[in-house]
Amino acid sequence: MEKTTLQSIRERSSHRKYLPDQLTKQQLSAIVDAALQSPSAVNAQPWHFTVVQDQALLADINKTAAKHALKREEDTRSPRFGDETFHVFYHAPTVIFISAHKSHYAPIDCGIAVQSMALAAESLGLGSVILGLPREAFVDEDKERLERALKFPADYGYVISIAIGTPDDEKAPHEMDPAKVSYIR
Ligand SMILES: Cc1cc2nc3c(=O)[nH]c(=O)nc-3n(C[C@H](O)[C@H](O)[C@H](O)COP(=O)(O)O)c2cc1C
Repeated sequence: MEKTTLQSIRERSSHRKYLPDQLTKQQLSAIVDAALQSPSAVNAQPWHFTVVQDQALLADINKTAAKHALKREEDTRSPRFGDETFHVFYHAPTVIFISAHKSHYAPIDCGIAVQSMALAAESLGLGSVILGLPREAFVDEDKERLERALKFPADYGYVISIAIGTPDDEKAPHEMDPAKVSYIR
């Protein structure tokens, strides 16, 4: 049975270990539909979604991200790249990349779409993690090559991605901070 929207929001958390089991066609289709059904400013739908289940391509992007990140000073990159066992996609069976043309609202629109997919995955009993770090791969001599491999439309660049699969870790939702809310009545 699918979780309700509120239950999915409550129970979603980022998973960083996955079983190799692939998503079913129906699960993937529901998640992709959730992305395509997301709102966007003036309904511009400035995004493109690339579903990747080719582990060799994900391994290439992982290696390329680490190569570029490790070229920089330690304090300018995620400490995760210092761990040789770190895999930027956590070996998830499916990763969905969102690319977009640069525009004022595109990052917000893509952020909403990625959360739609995270909640759809949660409601289907799957787990996910939203990923900014793979952006490290899309630079210098590797940018064009990877954008082509991922079928980004012309002039679209990496915005965000999401790894999805059956979680192989236990993860409680993060603590809520009520101080982040003001009420004016
Ligand atoms: C825009 C964005 C980028 C993120 N990038 C990464 C990432 O590259 N790697 C990662 O492990 N988690 C990433 N996360 C997950 C956050 O670390 C996570 O959402 C946060 O720690 C809160 O934990 P929770 O998702 O379990 O509630 C990202 C989340 C967001 C919203």
